[in-house]
Amino acid sequence: MRRPLVIALAGSPRPGGNSDCLLEEFVAGVRDAGADADLVAARDLVFAACDGCGGCFTSGRCVHRDDADAFLERLDAADGLVVASPVYFAGVPAVLKAVLDRMQPCWARTYRLGQPRRPKRPGAYLLVGAGGDPFGTAGAEATLSSAMQVCGFSVDVAGRFVGLDGPDDARRDADLRARVRAMGADFAAGVLEGAARR
Ligand SMILES: Cc1cc2nc3c(=O)[nH]c(=O)nc-3n(C[C@H](O)[C@H](O)[C@H](O)COP(=O)(O)O)c2cc1C
Repeated sequence: MRRPLVIALAGSPRPGGNSDCLLEEFVAGVRDAGADADLVAARDLVFAACDGCGGCFTSGRCVHRDDADAFLERLDAADGLVVASPVYFAGVPAVLKAVLDRMQPCWARTYRLGQPRRPKRPGAYLLVGAGGDPFGTAGAEATLSSAMQVCGFSVDVAGRFVGLDGPDDARRDADLRARVRAMGADFAAGVLEGAARR
């Protein structure tokens, strides 16, 4: 029998930065707890932006055959999802937003094609930011929650880590890394439970 799989989506355009570091810790915790995890970086995907053509309203699938389309198929088969992202102008970076926009076929399947909703699978996000911005993180949180829920994931873990700015800030904080690794293990316990029930 295959082990439950968590997809870990890295949203930063900056490789090896704070959100990547915390996502790697989270994934290590997921694996500690006995689930599998696949790390995917939005910045590595080659894909077209959603052009709002409405093609998915009739077919339930994007008209584009590319990495985003393949990613969505992997997401359909996953048992859990964690997204890690920096806050950019109170939202998420363009490269991650472009991947989220390509999740519109999930919306179309439910709200245009009337396909039955699947029971929600566990979901998590980890947001990092420098802080000091009066607009906070609510924009990024709403965007992530909206896309995750449309794709059939609940938001069980909402991690906000403010005060991280230099690329090594998270890596230098051993306590933070240990805390996030433990969060990953807790999250995976829910993933294992959910997969056993399905
Ligand atoms: C274009 C841009 C916009 C940013 N906007 C915000 C913001 O609105 N709020 C905030 O707290 N930090 C903001 N930051 C800081 C990043 O969130 C911070 O440096 C973060 O640690 C980067 O994460 P990463 O290392 O995973 O890329 C911004 C950074 C950039 C480059």
